[in-house]
Amino acid sequence: MNICKAKDYKELSRKAANIISAQVTMKPDCVLGLATGSSPVGTYEQLIEWYKMGDLDFSNVTSVNLDEYKGLAPDNDQSYRYFMNTNLFDHVNIEKMRTYVPNGLEPNSKKACREYDEIIEKVGGIDLQLLGLGHNGHIGFNEPSDSFTKGTNCVDLTESTIEANKRFFESEADVPRQAYTMGIGTIMKAKKILVVVSGKDKADILKKVVCGPVTPEVPASILQLHPDVTIVADEAALSEM
Ligand code: F6R
Repeated sequence: MNICKAKDYKELSRKAANIISAQVTMKPDCVLGLATGSSPVGTYEQLIEWYKMGDLDFSNVTSVNLDEYKGLAPDNDQSYRYFMNTNLFDHVNIEKMRTYVPNGLEPNSKKACREYDEIIEKVGGIDLQLLGLGHNGHIGFNEPSDSFTKGTNCVDLTESTIEANKRFFESEADVPRQAYTMGIGTIMKAKKILVVVSGKDKADILKKVVCGPVTPEVPASILQLHPDVTIVADEAALSEM
């Protein structure tokens, strides 16, 4: 694992954006695996800035997002499709038709998951997967468990994830209880993985992910086995290491 230290969130975001920018420049028709949440917001802002300066071209890029809440429509302002549109897609020249997010409106979980796996296969797999890290070590919505997931799956969100995500909803009761998420097997098949981690509240889990045993109880620990992982973290997140 390559660990890249940043002074603060701003520097972290620039470094992460640099890595994505290099990927898009070297392979303009690449497939980017993208994440939502607060960690990548600064990275997306930086990419938008460079795009506006004429330094980046997303016209041939395809994207597949990690996850989506089950039951939320794309125009619901808490859906991950809405997040991606407002935080990145609406501001760059990516073809919306080539941006994929699991279908939160598909009530049949098996069908939603199968269709998303087929999309990932059809686009040829992921060149660079961007990840945030959950406080319990989750990646995507793959929560601690007794085994690693393979393909896209429907998960019951844990109390800690509901608690962490309630800040985006009017009340905790409004947080959806299920989500569709790309599986860990699919994430591990990405050619490169970039993890952005910020803040003191992530320091304990980051240490477990990097230095602890590889265990499905800390899903992100499996990244130790991937040949090309870069973790970009700020000083606060690295403070326990
Ligand atoms: C988001 C996702 C989640 C987040 C994680 C960290 O698409 O899949 O795994 O990356 O919950 O969230 P933040 O960045 O808000 O701390």
